[in-house]
Amino acid sequence: MKGLQVAIDGPASAGKSTVAKLVAKRFGYVYCDTGAMYRSVTLAALQKGINVEDQAAVTKVAQAIQITFKPGEPEQRVFIDGQEVTEAIRSNEVNANVSVVAAVPAVRKEMVAQQRKIAEAGGIVMDGRDVGTTVLPDAEVKIFLVASAYERARRRFEENKQKGIATTTLAELQAAIERRDKLDSEREVSPLTQAEDAIRLDSTHLSIEEVVDEISAIIKKVEGN
Ligand code: CDP
Ligand code: CDP
Repeated sequence: MKGLQVAIDGPASAGKSTVAKLVAKRFGYVYCDTGAMYRSVTLAALQKGINVEDQAAVTKVAQAIQITFKPGEPEQRVFIDGQEVTEAIRSNEVNANVSVVAAVPAVRKEMVAQQRKIAEAGGIVMDGRDVGTTVLPDAEVKIFLVASAYERARRRFEENKQKGIATTTLAELQAAIERRDKLDSEREVSPLTQAEDAIRLDSTHLSIEEVVDEISAIIKKVEGN
């Protein structure tokens, strides 16, 4: 049976990539992290010394680079033109600039085209901000994953600590996350919004396992129809 298209959207650090990866594993689906693609364009632009406000220059970068994924544990590995950038795309500098790059319409056009190609064959779990609304409007399963801003900041804080990534205070991290959510929600093109037919899942008080189980149950129900 041809696999389904599963879209998981939501604000920063709601747990999208963690659960998307586990759900993909459970069903033998491909996982695609659309955020990593916008992060890659941002990193490539910064490395070239481009001002991220220069939309034409940033667009050229998006059109020129080749972003690829390889399965890996604990996380999928990301490459720009064959060079590994898995860690580099999570830097504070990329965090601070990615929402500006992701708001450029021509950058989104390029990324969305690539994402649709990846999802074409079905059997895909794709996470991001606009997957259910724009990239895959016909996805059979759409989840909008949320959690309180405090809980999301707390999770990212713990994650950074564990991975040894330099971080600010919890309050500053929460402010940075909220700033990014605001930019993502208020931009003109494909803002972060819940698709009308998406199921909203609040993970504030749920474990990763519980979220994965809930989404898996939804997929099984759709598969059974
Ligand atoms: O993992 P985290 O929630 O911190 O962010 P991400 O999913 O890696 O996405 C990084 C940024 O890319 C977001 O803040 C958005 O600005 C942008 N993005 C987007 O605009 N559309 C998507 N489908 C995915 C990410
Ligand atoms: O992709 P997104 O930015 O939405 O979030 P993430 O990077 O997958 O998850 C942020 C952190 O929250 C990770 O360290 C997860 O282990 C943790 N977490 C979670 O994803 N879901 C829960 N229900 C509880 C914790």
